[in-house]
Amino acid sequence: MISAGFCALPFLILFGIRKYIESKWGKCKNRIKLDGKIAIVTGANSGIGFEVAKELASRNATVILACRDMNKAKFALEKIKKDISSPVSLIPMELDLASLKSIQSFTEKFKDKFEYLHILINNAGLSNSHTTKRLLTDDNLELHFGVNYIGHFYLTNLLLCVLEKSRPSKVVIVSSKLHEKGQICLDDLNSVSRNCPNLYADSKLANVYFCRELSKKIESKGIDVFAVCPGWVYTNLFRHRIRWYHYIIFSPIAFFFMRSAKQGAQTVIYCATEPGLATGMIYRDCMMYESKHKFDPNVSTDLWLKSEEIITSILINFNPDVIIQG
Ligand SMILES: NC(=O)c1ccc[n+]([C@@H]2O[C@H](COP(=O)([O-])OP(=O)(O)OC[C@H]3O[C@@H](n4cnc5c(N)ncnc54)[C@H](OP(=O)(O)O)[C@@H]3O)[C@@H](O)[C@H]2O)c1
Repeated sequence: MISAGFCALPFLILFGIRKYIESKWGKCKNRIKLDGKIAIVTGANSGIGFEVAKELASRNATVILACRDMNKAKFALEKIKKDISSPVSLIPMELDLASLKSIQSFTEKFKDKFEYLHILINNAGLSNSHTTKRLLTDDNLELHFGVNYIGHFYLTNLLLCVLEKSRPSKVVIVSSKLHEKGQICLDDLNSVSRNCPNLYADSKLANVYFCRELSKKIESKGIDVFAVCPGWVYTNLFRHRIRWYHYIIFSPIAFFFMRSAKQGAQTVIYCATEPGLATGMIYRDCMMYESKHKFDPNVSTDLWLKSEEIITSILINFNPDVIIQG
């Protein structure tokens, strides 16, 4: 009896440490209902996006599952319906952030269907290995830059008019703590000539700059904007980087520090629902986060201008009449 107790003790201690660490991650405690609100969640079929979509739907929002694969979107919809016993309003819509055309078509269809948009969650993202060859979007942008940053930059700009009409409204941009290791190379945003940069971290830093600059531009429009670092979360994100031996090496660290998708979604839900948060700021663990990155206001404005230039140069090729403002 005593020896069984001794055997269990180390596991109880480890479990206790894990629970203690979990208690520091923060939880969205408000139970604010979202009746009559309309929300878009990009990448809602998996990981953090799925959990955010589920929570917003459970609070009675109409949630648009903006996904690149409609089968995955429909599968997610069925799963959410099964998980939530009460009726939910979920609409799957096709959105491929690797294609400006797809983003345009998504926003046009959205505006045809809906007059208002109260919550935009810019969540979708990808992370590919450093060693694979430079991958490109449909518009010849480096994949991380194109999907994680430019795609959401364009999507948000096209939706600004609906967000303004729906004031007070919110834009939540899912970044990462890795933004602190990122660089914005204004002369080579598309990473054509840079050697092995950390493309994922760079795109996440661009997300934070976007949040800061957007909050300045829309200060008086009743739209709040937040960047979120969700923590290290167990999702499909690193599927292109993970090798079998990583599971062995990292499992002890993961046991203590890796969040479930539901835990990773908490700060996103908090920013999407909590009233009175400071706009233009970074949030982590359901509180404001002081980044170690030294932000340069000139980079902020230049990145915005260059992003507009990049988008305009792509759009001119397939539709000279389209302008960036929605
Ligand atoms: N997991 C972490 O530790 C962690 C840490 C910090 C920040 N984040 C951020 O959290 C966000 C959500 O990631 P996650 O961890 O939940 O990973 P995930 O499970 O892989 O989810 C990513 C979502 O983005 C979608 N997506 C990828 N490329 C897309 C495209 N071209 N167009 C539209 N959607 C696209 C994916 O769709 P498919 O299923 O079709 O691929 C998926 O739905 C990302 O922005 C990520 O950078 C994650």
